[in-house]
Amino acid sequence: MRSLIDIVDFSVEELDELLQTACDISEHPEKYANACRGKKLATLFFEPSTRTRLSFEAAMYELGGNVLGFSEASSSSASKGESVADTAKMISCYADIMAMRHPKEGAPYVAAKSASIPVINAGDGGHCHPTQTLADLLTIYRELGRLDNLTIGCCGDLKYGRTVHSLISAMSRYKNIKVVLIAPDELRLPKYVKYEVLEKNGMDYVETTSLEEAIPELDVLYMTRIQQERFDSFGEYERLKDSYVLTPEKMALGKPTMRVLHPLPRVNEISVKVDADPRAAYFRQALNAKHMRMALILKLLKEAEEGRQMNPVENALVNKLRCDNPRCITSTEQELEHIFRCVDSEREIYRCIYCESKKVLTLV
Ligand code: NCD
Repeated sequence: MRSLIDIVDFSVEELDELLQTACDISEHPEKYANACRGKKLATLFFEPSTRTRLSFEAAMYELGGNVLGFSEASSSSASKGESVADTAKMISCYADIMAMRHPKEGAPYVAAKSASIPVINAGDGGHCHPTQTLADLLTIYRELGRLDNLTIGCCGDLKYGRTVHSLISAMSRYKNIKVVLIAPDELRLPKYVKYEVLEKNGMDYVETTSLEEAIPELDVLYMTRIQQERFDSFGEYERLKDSYVLTPEKMALGKPTMRVLHPLPRVNEISVKVDADPRAAYFRQALNAKHMRMALILKLLKEAEEGRQMNPVENALVNKLRCDNPRCITSTEQELEHIFRCVDSEREIYRCIYCESKKVLTLV
């Protein structure tokens, strides 16, 4: 069954098609009011969420469908020890499509492998968040009229901020994109995104710790929250939590056409005073998220009817390497095969298909 686990599961043509559908939905919502009549979306949220879950639910209601689900792990059978694979099989009996958020990296992928309905990754640990990226792409497109020839600054927690990982993967498909990575040394972009997305695709990028120095050249400033829940120590979070605060004074350094995006929720990284600046696009971005999720639900349900399948994993090694990332779903899911795929055959570099942790081949 075709699912959306990682933003690269969709081609650029498919992303364009989703953008066009989302624009049409926002202009002619009445055309879509019955598009999912009789269909059910299950929202399985094992981690807190406001926007993502509610925008999925609003999206399905506006398509004329229904919604069932839960919003915390404690109210599901996961608290009794049920595996992700079993939960996904069971939900397939009750719904036509599911959106899953989970603290373990790769959990939605495990769900997709055992479900018989499409699975949408609504955020897996610090790994990725493809539907937020769909909202980000629509926002950039609507605000600036293009998805190429852009300088995009990503600021804040680039280590654990899954929205940034997915956004950079998506932008690697478009022409002439420069990425400015603005983060404290402790929260720099993970190496797998840097080497396997930015460098592999020959993208222009720079790393800096200074927001003030970076702002003047940016077309898009993508602010992120320091992800408190992913830190091992609260002291480390306390030390880094005020790394960047966007204020009207800093906005004054930016181009008049610059746009500020933020997946939300914000804590203190954008002063409330910035909200009145017409370049602040984050609340419009939240509305775009609903239209994009409507387009996505329509696409995946249509493909399910046509019987489209997930792309197979190429160059896979099954149970030859063990993933030792404690945040990976392999650390908790019973009897899950550890699968690695080759990303560099010359240097024999493999990555876990669930969390993308790296291994250099040493057979066990
Ligand atoms: C983001 C997330 O969950 O990763 N929020 C969202 O989905 N809009 C960003 C965040 O929590 O900081």
